[in-house]
Amino acid sequence: MNKDINQLMLPEGATKYLFFGGKGGVGKTTAATATAVWFADHGYRTTIVSTDPTVSLSAMFNQEIKGDARVPIRHVSNLCGLNINPNDAKGVFQKRLNSVIGQMTGTFGSDIVSTPCMEEMATFDQFVTFLEEPDSDVIVFDTAPTGKTLRELAMPFDWAGFLQKQIQEGKKLAQMMNMDSNAFEDLERDKRRYEEALKVLGNRSTTVFTLVLLPERLPIEETHSAITGLGRLGIPVQALVVNQCILSEVIEGNRFLAARAKLQSRYMEEIDTRFGKLIRSSLPLLDRDVSDLSTLREVGEILYGN
Ligand SMILES: Nc1ncnc2c1ncn2[C@@H]1O[C@H](COP(=O)(O)OP(=O)(O)OP(=O)(O)O)[C@@H](O)[C@H]1O
Ligand SMILES: [Mg+2]
Repeated sequence: MNKDINQLMLPEGATKYLFFGGKGGVGKTTAATATAVWFADHGYRTTIVSTDPTVSLSAMFNQEIKGDARVPIRHVSNLCGLNINPNDAKGVFQKRLNSVIGQMTGTFGSDIVSTPCMEEMATFDQFVTFLEEPDSDVIVFDTAPTGKTLRELAMPFDWAGFLQKQIQEGKKLAQMMNMDSNAFEDLERDKRRYEEALKVLGNRSTTVFTLVLLPERLPIEETHSAITGLGRLGIPVQALVVNQCILSEVIEGNRFLAARAKLQSRYMEEIDTRFGKLIRSSLPLLDRDVSDLSTLREVGEILYGN
C-alpha cells in the first residue's frame, strides 16, 4: 500500500475524477476497476466509465455494461458502470450537430459531420456530460490506449476554435440568408462546455491522471511521451502504477524469473530517475489474471490498503 497515492485520490468534499491511462495491455482496466471497487467498498458513491470501445468493463464485471445509462454493478454496492461506445456516441453527437446546423446543412454541414475526428469528438462530448453532472463522489475513467486518449483530449482545443469560427461565419451567413441566428446558441454552449471540461481536467485537486506501465523499455518511453503530450494540454500526470513486478519471493531459484526480475529492477531505477517527481505505486505480477471480483479487491488492497 502506498499512503501517498491513497491521499492523492481520496475525494475531499468535491467529486474526484480519476483517470487511468497508458500503453495497450499494461493494466489500465485492472488498475481502474480495482480502484473503483476499492472506493465503492469504502462507502464512496463511485462510477466507473470506460472510454475504450472494447467490452473490457463488461468482461471484468461479468455483466453487460452499455453506453446509454449507468448500471449498478452486481455484488458491489455504491458502484455503477458505463461504457461510452464511440459509435453510439457518434450518433448522438451527429444528431445534435445536424439539428444545430439545421437549415444550413446543405451549405457547410456535410463537411463538418464527416470530419475524420468525429469519433474522438463524439466520445469527448459524452465524456464532458459526465464532468458536468457528477453525482458520484468518485468517477474513475478507464481510458483507451494513450494515443487515442490523447487525441480525444486534444480534440476540444481544435473544436473550440472550430466552433468559434463556425459561430462567426454561420451568424454572418444566417444574417445574409435571413435565418434564425439563435441556432448558434447551442454551438456557443458547446464551446463553453468544452472549455469548462478542460479546466476540470487541468485541476490537480479534482482530477488525478495516473499512468500505468510495466518496468520495460517501451512502456517507459510511452509514459514519457504521454506525460509530455498531456502536459501540453494542461493536464498534469500525478501518479504512476508500475504493474506486473516480479517479487523476489517468487523467484525461488528459477533462473528465468531471476533474469526477468533483474531486468525489471534496472527499469525500476530508470523509472525512479526519470519520473521521480510523481507518486509511484507498484503491483506484483500475480499467478493468475485479474478477471474476478475477489482478485480486483486484492489488487485494490495492495494499492490503497484495507
Ligand atoms: N499484476 C497482474 N498480474 C497478472 N495479470 C495481470 C496483472 N495486471 C494485469 N493482468 C492481466 O493482463 C491483461 C491486460 O490487463 P488489462 O486488461 O488491465 O490491460 P489494459 O491496459 O486495460 O489493456 P488494453 O490496452 O487492451 O485496454 C489482463 O488479462 C489482466 O488480467
Ligand atoms: Mg483496458
